[in-house]
Amino acid sequence: MSEFVSIAVRQEGPVGVIELARPNVLNALSRQMVSEIVAAVESFDRDEEVCVIVLTGRGRAFAAGADIQEMANDDPVRLEWLNQFADWDRLSLVKTPMIAAVNGLALGGGFELALSCDLIIASAAAEFGFPEVNLGVMPGAGGTQRLTKLIGPKQALAWLWTGERLSAKEAHALGVVTRVVSPELLMEETMRLARRLAEQPPLALRLIKEAVQKAVDYPLYEGMQFERKNFYLLFASEDQKEGMAAFLEKRKPQFRGK
Ligand code: CAA
Repeated sequence: MSEFVSIAVRQEGPVGVIELARPNVLNALSRQMVSEIVAAVESFDRDEEVCVIVLTGRGRAFAAGADIQEMANDDPVRLEWLNQFADWDRLSLVKTPMIAAVNGLALGGGFELALSCDLIIASAAAEFGFPEVNLGVMPGAGGTQRLTKLIGPKQALAWLWTGERLSAKEAHALGVVTRVVSPELLMEETMRLARRLAEQPPLALRLIKEAVQKAVDYPLYEGMQFERKNFYLLFASEDQKEGMAAFLEKRKPQFRGK
């Protein structure tokens, strides 16, 4: 994956790590950078050896939002032809568990990128916010929708209208951040969690992710029907046979994603 210029990509055993690497502009998300992130994520998603994907940022920001320099002179027709958010939409289709390891500022599109991940582990030094309103615009990559579904309209509006930044601790209290860790332990703790998840049966993780996503969008009854189908489907996997046999034989299961 050495063709990338604005991200650095590596694989550590079953964990694929993507580092946003334009620290001189606080990892501002240029269109090229977003398309590189999505290409790297999709490549890991298709790789049976990769069980978890971690996204993080180099320098003092996770990402300070979309690249303002790049979009300052845009107009609606150009944005329509660019299909500006098509790459972002593809992130919603990723099946592999994704963890954002938020090292610093996660603003605007940077916050939206973190919200596109399944879990957010934040450094205690991280800050989260949607400053788009200060630019005369608003989030466009799912921010108003994902934030509202997570914390409700009253809290979301206050955050989105003021453009204020919240600390990792405050974001954790609102249920946006999964866990806050000290800055020097961020990657160690994130990788520990990623490796722990990589030991779990991968098909079950994927189908649980899908069912939880449906819980956000579906009415309860439809969501429960969806859950049931995924539950039945897992009985077609070797991992189900292995998991239950291992329990009965009082040994540790060996899951293979089959
Ligand atoms: N786009 C382009 N460049 C950016 C940027 C962005 N979003 N954020 C920071 N930079 C650049 C700065 O222009 C600066 O570059 P130069 O050194 O060449 O001048 C460099 O990164 C360092 O930034 P600052 O000097 O501003 O650092 P600071 O510590 O004084 O301030 C900051 C940090 C408060 C985050 C400030 O940089 C800032 O307000 N950035 C913009 C944040 C923002 O408005 N994000 C939302 C973008 S819109 C969006 O994301 C829409 C969407 O939904 C997809």
